[in-house]
Amino acid sequence: MIRKIVNGVYNVGAIHWERTLFDEIVPLPQGTSYNAYLVKGEKKTALIDTVEPEKLEQLLNNLEELEVDKIDYIVSNHAEQDHSGSIPDLLKIYPNARVVTNEKCKSFEMDLLHLSEDKFMTVKEGDTLGLGGKTLKFLMTPWVHWPETMTTFLMEDKIAFTCDFFGSHAATTHTFAEQYDRIYHEAKRYYAEIMMPFRQIITRNIEKIEKLNPEIIAPSHGPAYREPGFIINAYRDWISEKTKNEVLILYVSMHGSTKKMVDALVDYLGKYRVEVKVRDLITADLGEIAIDMVDVTTIIIATPTILAGPHPNAVYAAYLANALKPKAKVIGIMGSYGWGGRTVDILKSNLGSLRVELLEPLLIKGLPREEDYEKIREFAKKIAEKHRKLGVMK
Ligand code: FEO
Repeated sequence: MIRKIVNGVYNVGAIHWERTLFDEIVPLPQGTSYNAYLVKGEKKTALIDTVEPEKLEQLLNNLEELEVDKIDYIVSNHAEQDHSGSIPDLLKIYPNARVVTNEKCKSFEMDLLHLSEDKFMTVKEGDTLGLGGKTLKFLMTPWVHWPETMTTFLMEDKIAFTCDFFGSHAATTHTFAEQYDRIYHEAKRYYAEIMMPFRQIITRNIEKIEKLNPEIIAPSHGPAYREPGFIINAYRDWISEKTKNEVLILYVSMHGSTKKMVDALVDYLGKYRVEVKVRDLITADLGEIAIDMVDVTTIIIATPTILAGPHPNAVYAAYLANALKPKAKVIGIMGSYGWGGRTVDILKSNLGSLRVELLEPLLIKGLPREEDYEKIREFAKKIAEKHRKLGVMK
């Protein structure tokens, strides 16, 4: 299915309705798309990014429908295979095409795709490539989300092709974002899962894109944006240091004791006017947990002690928080145990990259007793005080 962006620019990529998992870790409840953009100049034709090899046929059908008999340049903004993986096959069909990318991306693609060096034309920050009436400008936007990522800007039409940056995993026939509520959620999910670890560096890239004053932002997943301010402002909010008066409780409970602690904590936090989100780590969607992490102030990991330590899903949650590096300011560990174990040490050792304040852990023996509920109330009070001190509670 061809989706026209403006005259001479088409999304000829593929929609992957049935894909449920990305990178063998990221759930895709809405599927995804791999947007590849054909830019037809008066003299030359460029294809910006390609598609996951499994969906190459859709791309080839679209090129055939547009009667594309030659491609002069395949611009590769990012070496990850969902965008670069079809380059080797395309080079067989269009043997005279040159792969246009930066040095780092070239070296990645020589390793990942076994492309030979003579297939490439490398570009640097600010270089331009004229196609005849359409000029591509290349801007290095590293770490969104690999070190080699770049953005291609079509100067005459003011379109920024940002690849993963500003993308969303959404299989849709909509060329442009229309259902803003829904796309906000998907874009936030994408940010949380893919971009959040690079929050600091993204600031510089946003500024670079803003300076271009684009009229359209065309990422390589999900719909394009005719109102770039929508997605740019959303990113500005997500990457800012601002957090909400919210606690995210990620818990596992084997026989109900830890769950009773969680329920009590939710009640007490409510009494202290702190909002709460609760996720059961056995059933929760990983992407939803990542979204929750974007702007909460406090994360609590609650676990029973099993096999002399935390439940493996609680370790996974700690590892995930550590890797995603959310802007949360406070972390707490709580749970119920039977006869000891290394729950706190093991969880702490998985949280080492976070610049957060760790609350005094709250572990209780067995089913909570009257005096334990008082400890939970104190725990909630401490969290509320932190929120007040941090200025997130009005
Ligand atoms: Fe959509 Fe990093 O690949």
